[in-house]
Amino acid sequence: MCGIVGYVGGRPCRDLLIAGLEKLEYRGYDSAGISLLADGQVETVRAVGNLANLRAAIGLDADQPVSGEGAVAVAMPPATIGLGHTRWATHGRVTEENAHPHGDCTERIHIVLNGIVENHTELRRELVDAGHAFTSETDAEIVAHMIEKHYEGDLTEAVRSAFAELRGHYAFVAMHAEHPNTLVAARQECPLIVGIGQGETFVASAIPAFLAQTRNVLGLKNAEIVTVTPDGARIVDVDGTPVDREIEEVTWDEEAAEKGGYPTFMLKEIHEQPAAVAETITDRLPGSDHVDLSEVDLSPEFVRDLRRIVIVACGTSYHAGLIGRYAIEQWARIPVEMDIASEYRYREPVVGPDDLVIGITQSGETADTLAAMRLARERGARVMAVTNIMGSQATRDADTVLYTRAGLEMGVAATKTFTAQTAAMYLLGLWLAQSRNAWPQEKMTEVIAELKSIPSKIGTTIESVEERVRAIARSHQDRPFFLYLGRNIGLPVCLEGALKMKEISYIPTDAYAAGEMKHGPIALLDESTPVVCVATNSPILDKMLSNMAEVRARGADVIAIATEGNAQVAEVADQTLHVPATDWVVQPILAVVPLQLLAYHVARLNGLNVDQPRNLAKTVTVE
Ligand code: F6R
Repeated sequence: MCGIVGYVGGRPCRDLLIAGLEKLEYRGYDSAGISLLADGQVETVRAVGNLANLRAAIGLDADQPVSGEGAVAVAMPPATIGLGHTRWATHGRVTEENAHPHGDCTERIHIVLNGIVENHTELRRELVDAGHAFTSETDAEIVAHMIEKHYEGDLTEAVRSAFAELRGHYAFVAMHAEHPNTLVAARQECPLIVGIGQGETFVASAIPAFLAQTRNVLGLKNAEIVTVTPDGARIVDVDGTPVDREIEEVTWDEEAAEKGGYPTFMLKEIHEQPAAVAETITDRLPGSDHVDLSEVDLSPEFVRDLRRIVIVACGTSYHAGLIGRYAIEQWARIPVEMDIASEYRYREPVVGPDDLVIGITQSGETADTLAAMRLARERGARVMAVTNIMGSQATRDADTVLYTRAGLEMGVAATKTFTAQTAAMYLLGLWLAQSRNAWPQEKMTEVIAELKSIPSKIGTTIESVEERVRAIARSHQDRPFFLYLGRNIGLPVCLEGALKMKEISYIPTDAYAAGEMKHGPIALLDESTPVVCVATNSPILDKMLSNMAEVRARGADVIAIATEGNAQVAEVADQTLHVPATDWVVQPILAVVPLQLLAYHVARLNGLNVDQPRNLAKTVTVE
């Protein structure tokens, strides 16, 4: 999740690029850089840390406003073409060398990239064999060298040929010293937008990067390459066939632009889940048969002899932990204990050197989770943080870190960080199974294939259910109470759906293990109760179907989440939402999506501010 911006036109562009990066900083912030081309020379400035550090490296005063007009550029004379990047590290540590832009061997071609090039290892090997010298550990640098390899005087052609050899999800912009009036950009699964101004053109990963300068935009689709000059943009597909695209006018204000055209951050972030999960899993699943978690610093002996795992977390992160428990126990056969961090820290937990304690916290700053992790560490356990934020307190308090890569979450209600955490727990479960030889290879290969398909299946789920979820929300928006029922791995999905509903719509909810219904809660049911049942395919679906029949017998309205292709569930439900089929342990990451949307639409129909629910803050740092 990086931010990229490029400019070509008549104005000095250094400050335009910095201003654009400031609007993208939420996407990544561990390092940043710009490259400017003037007088046939490319000059680059990069810095570790946030944009303030880049400004300092350029010699811009921290308080100096970025005018967008540009005074003196780094290169002389002032450059009127350049690239900017704000990075969220995926490949390679957070260092100045790994910060973008990256150059080829001649330093005449520079690129900025957002996303991941999956086949970077093979490509790097081929390029090194052909004599290319690399200066960073990133997958992005490969793209500069690939363009160099194909360059014969036509930058668009070189980018097109390089693009055809890349695999993964990415968008990039390239600049060449011999083409002072041209940028060439391409995209595959990651966003890229062109901004058409008067005698100047922008290209960026999101509209806010240039909205202050122009409102005329061209959206790029997958496998398209755009050549950008001060006079406009020319799009071709990967075969070189010209593509006609209408320029559209953006009517949003700045705030709406930051929401990417969505009415709220929460909805934008729900829609960002395919990318958040793809970023989290892609390079950790480099082939079809193994998981690469080489970043996890646990010795093979420790992993082999591990007696037990304890997961501590709060709120939504706790629910991701619950799903993780099922996955780890199912695949790696290691006993997992779950605890709410605010409970764990105040009891006398029995924990010691044979235990791995995992603290899940997207912010990395939740006081109770940090306290629980510290307590476990004091008692000799090895502690892992699963977090979304580099440099957060959790990363400093843990022995090892597994990052989710969801990008910054602006909405208070966690959505994309939850699915990214769930994906990270699946990776961990598979990695533990692999490290302990606990599970047959064919099964491992099957689940890896399923995991790889999850980003696009989340996309399909959102597309296929959203309209219907809105209709269901409309029919239940005034209900005083929602009950959520599930079994086994469906239960954490219910807990999460119920939390989302109460958090943003202020409607009381309860989530129950369906088998517990008969022990009391069934008394709550009458005709006025919508009961959300997670009834996706699993070995205990039959039990769930019986519970749903019991609920229906009391006149309550059953809203079911079922797996595509299953007809039985709809027979015992009033309204059914289908999610694509996958391995049953992986199914929760899809099943939760309609529940996020249901909570969202109920809240919106009731006119509530879903991005900032009452009494809640994004990070809970108080004890
Ligand atoms: C719910 C939500 C909270 C957080 C909880 C833990 O939508 O966002 O329940 O999940 O406060 O936060 P982190 O993960 O930052 O520790």
